[in-house]
Amino acid sequence: MPDINLLLRDNIKKLVPYASARDEFSGTASIFLDANENSLGSPIPGQYNRYPDPHQLKIKELLSGIKGVPVENIFLGNGSDECIDLLFRAFCNPGKDNMIINPPTYGMYEVSAHVNDVEVRKAMLTEDFQLNLENIESLVDEQTKIIWICSPNNPTGNAFPHQQIEMVLNNFDGLVVIDEAYINFSRQQSFIKELTEYPNLVILQTLSKAWGLAGLRVGMAFASEAIVHILNKIKPPYNIGQAAQELVIRALSQTSQVNEMIREIVSMRSSLELEIRKFPAVKKVYPSDANFLLVKIDHARKVYEVLLNQGIVVRDRSNAELCKDCLRITVGKKEENEKLLQALGALE
Ligand SMILES: Cc1ncc(COP(=O)(O)O)c(C=O)c1O
Repeated sequence: MPDINLLLRDNIKKLVPYASARDEFSGTASIFLDANENSLGSPIPGQYNRYPDPHQLKIKELLSGIKGVPVENIFLGNGSDECIDLLFRAFCNPGKDNMIINPPTYGMYEVSAHVNDVEVRKAMLTEDFQLNLENIESLVDEQTKIIWICSPNNPTGNAFPHQQIEMVLNNFDGLVVIDEAYINFSRQQSFIKELTEYPNLVILQTLSKAWGLAGLRVGMAFASEAIVHILNKIKPPYNIGQAAQELVIRALSQTSQVNEMIREIVSMRSSLELEIRKFPAVKKVYPSDANFLLVKIDHARKVYEVLLNQGIVVRDRSNAELCKDCLRITVGKKEENEKLLQALGALE
């Protein structure tokens, strides 16, 4: 059974965390002269002159109900990107430790590793975008602290089979981070139910995709109490602003509207896939468990530019490993998808 304390950096183990004014006093009072805020108010309506709840308890209580995970196992970051960075800062000694990614995958694991001076080891996916378990195993050594698995994976769109991810979890004593940013669009189940079985499992999810709240910057990490405690210890005290917290609390009561959007996006993904397949220049549309399609197309860069000239921006992934001539296309609104199809149809 992996011991989280053995993985933790020494300086973080010894760290005395910052105690914010809101940490030191959390009861009821009528006069707050403890946090050097502007007591007169803010220039816009709302209580924005006060610092927000550093622990975002209301949001966590709502999320706990939605996800079936106790509040103590939930951490919130300024986007999952903040969670990614904090995991490096807590567990990876700069210039000494390493982590493993499975390219092609989400770029921030690598960037964040470089920011933290952590060695990046790459276990390339197979040609059909599956995890290469043998390769992962051969890259692990004493200094390997984190294995990142993005499922459904960006940019390939596929989710990895549950058993494959379980193999990694059962055979690695460092942290296994499963990034489930796109899980709501997937046929695969979340790993959230397995949280209690693996003290070294971290699941990342986000409000930026299915929840339609990318502008608010709220990401979630679900993990053992020990890991959540560590992340709370090192995060900036007020990492989610008051306005974002208020809006998220409102949004979290709108689950049926969100589920409706998810159904619509998944249905449009299927029709878009069928239509895109019909174009002769299209060599392959990869199966997707996300809200985007990876499309292999002749002269991808040129197609990207033609689309751009018509005001349609897609993501050119041709330079990513195993993604030669691939564009990543987000499922849009119905009329946007139609415009895209028209533009693709007009290609010579
Ligand atoms: C796989 C994956 N993880 C995380 C993120 C970032 O999420 P957030 O907006 O919560 O920082 C993205 C954004 O595209 C993503 O594709």
